[in-house]
Amino acid sequence: MISIQNVSKRFGKFKAVDNINIEVEKGEIFGLLGLNGAGKTTTQRMVSTVFQPSEGNITVNGFNSKSDSSEVRRNIGFLPTEVGLYDRLTAREVIKYFGILNDIDENRINDKIDEVLEKLSLVEYANKRCGKLSRGNKQKVAIARAIIHEPPVFIFDEPTSGLDVISSRAVLDFVKQCKDDGRTILYSSHSMYETEEICDKIAVIHDGKILMTDSIEHIQKEHGSLEKAFIAAVKGERS
Ligand SMILES: Nc1ncnc2c1ncn2[C@@H]1O[C@H](COP(=O)(O)OP(=O)(O)OP(=O)(O)O)[C@@H](O)[C@H]1O
Ligand SMILES: [Mg+2]
Repeated sequence: MISIQNVSKRFGKFKAVDNINIEVEKGEIFGLLGLNGAGKTTTQRMVSTVFQPSEGNITVNGFNSKSDSSEVRRNIGFLPTEVGLYDRLTAREVIKYFGILNDIDENRINDKIDEVLEKLSLVEYANKRCGKLSRGNKQKVAIARAIIHEPPVFIFDEPTSGLDVISSRAVLDFVKQCKDDGRTILYSSHSMYETEEICDKIAVIHDGKILMTDSIEHIQKEHGSLEKAFIAAVKGERS
């Protein structure tokens, strides 16, 4: 569903992503792990067509991110780390605006918004201005607006970062529900525990390179826990 082949990204002389290969199958949750500055966000931005790879190819649902970038955008919902909502608009208005931008039929949009508000337990906040919402509810609105066009692929950059236990749980349960609905998810996180819980496979990125790719099941069998495997991989690079 997502194919990243020999992809690199240069910012001037600096190589932020260095010849990575990742395959994400339909219905999988694939985790990107790595220290600050490892290249996770850069990778997710390239898949989302925010910018193009300097080298290599990315396809999403068979569409090439360079030659078919608008098709790729139709096939993905991208939740960036830094979420800017329009504080003066209500949750419903923000979601509606993005739905219209994504060509959702105006006759169907209100039903779709109701559905997504329900799924994210946002119904009671629908008519509140975004500026007045808690961080957790802002994040849920950001998720709702990213996926209102019901794309098959979601790209979530640290969706639980800074959220309390209850809000994180709601987001994680939502992501799992999306997987059960057959969606494919490229997910980044600094939490080993949540990654272990929700991801099928992971890649550890370090200095733009992939140090390991494996299934969570196999990692737990081999190393006992994801945290142990991650620290061993990253420390090995530093010594
Ligand atoms: N637009 C840009 N211009 C120049 N350098 C950039 C740009 N975007 C990212 N970088 C650099 O690329 C490297 C990878 O950054 P990236 O944001 O992908 O890391 P990350 O793994 O998402 O880190 P974090 O865990 O802190 O979110 C960093 O050294 C960063 O400073
Ligand atoms: Mg990042």
